[in-house]
Amino acid sequence: MKLIKGNFIYSIDKDNIEIKENQYLLVKNGKAEEFYSEVPEKLKDVEVEDYKENIIIPGLVDLHIHAPQYAFRGMGMDMQLLDWLNTYAFREEGKYSDLEYAKKQYSKFVEDVKNSATTRLSIFATLHKDATIMLMDLLEEAGINAYVGKVNMDRNSPEFLTEGMMESKEATIEWLEQTKDRYKNIKPILTPRFIPSCTDDLMQEIEYINQTYNIPVQSHLSENQSEIEWVAQLHPDTNNYAEAYDKYNLFGKENKTIMAHCVHCPDEELDLIKRNNVIVAHCPQSNTNLTSGIAPIKKMLAMGIDVGLGSDIAGGSSLSIFRAMSDAVQVSKLREAMTGEADQILTLSEVFFLATKGGGNFFGNVGSFEQGYEFDAVVLNDESFGDNSNFTFKERLERIIYLSDDRNIVAKYVAGNKVI
Ligand code: GUN
Ligand code: FE
Repeated sequence: MKLIKGNFIYSIDKDNIEIKENQYLLVKNGKAEEFYSEVPEKLKDVEVEDYKENIIIPGLVDLHIHAPQYAFRGMGMDMQLLDWLNTYAFREEGKYSDLEYAKKQYSKFVEDVKNSATTRLSIFATLHKDATIMLMDLLEEAGINAYVGKVNMDRNSPEFLTEGMMESKEATIEWLEQTKDRYKNIKPILTPRFIPSCTDDLMQEIEYINQTYNIPVQSHLSENQSEIEWVAQLHPDTNNYAEAYDKYNLFGKENKTIMAHCVHCPDEELDLIKRNNVIVAHCPQSNTNLTSGIAPIKKMLAMGIDVGLGSDIAGGSSLSIFRAMSDAVQVSKLREAMTGEADQILTLSEVFFLATKGGGNFFGNVGSFEQGYEFDAVVLNDESFGDNSNFTFKERLERIIYLSDDRNIVAKYVAGNKVI
């Protein structure tokens, strides 16, 4: 049990931000319990962590990131998706057959995640089983909470980054067996890379594994026009890209599923996302860098679709989910300016929700300080921006989103455990 003192800011829903100024939050069994203005008599012996004037927000959630692409982030940013994958991403991911290389690069990735404001992630590794387990081990050691996926891919990639269908199936099962009960904070997630990477036979095997092991699914959906046309050619029997996953029961319903991007979803696809409770990972920086487009996030929110934010390293070049928040606002404004459609602009309250409780929803009661929520928190000192005395807490929060970096982080907790 512990009392955390400071200025708490958190989302109730997409339209409402709650502020608890100069209060004590009782954290019990890793969960937020209750706020107090004064320490009550019954808690007078409980340890207090006093963060004084600092701001405390829920830990940020990165719903879509490729760990093996971290090492070359910021490269090839003048290309579009399919050329960028072939020129940069596949070449780099091929190197993770070498465990020494994987250890060096994954250690740096995990160190930077640990020092960031992100507490939860859903991560693509590579197709290599052993390097994927190494990444899971490193994340667990660092106290981060994450879903990690061994990637499945058996077509349309270079020789050095492909598996046979049976090989992919067997390696996936071995990976699940070897990591079962191994971690406190790390869980597996099935990760067919995207439809062009997986034969129909492999998709069937992944469906079988999903039914046997009952674990969530992550992939990419309707990111880029050339990709969408390609999927339509590969699956002429489907009406849209989503159906190519749904055909194999890898699109929500009983399976918790994250689909990254969803930039160009036709209405029937959005309806299926909603109906099947798929959560969308909005990755604005990647969608800009790879000329993918601007996802209709306001429309999704109005439909009641679950949405979170993703860095999509290395389509996105920044690990920061604060950056994803400001990018989400900025591209939403460009969407309104360029399409002339009304009501496209995301508010501060909406992007704060997406980065915390919206994405956190995929992990359970995560992303808020309401009673029963896991205590994921980031303590931020915003003094370096200048005199804040005339600003409201919401104004200070907005400046943190636009101006902060890791140097502003004073402490960080994941499910009640202090990690920095
Ligand atoms: N689609 C399939 N693979 C990838 C990837 O690595 N990054 C992005 N942005 N899209 C993809
Ligand atoms: Fe991606």
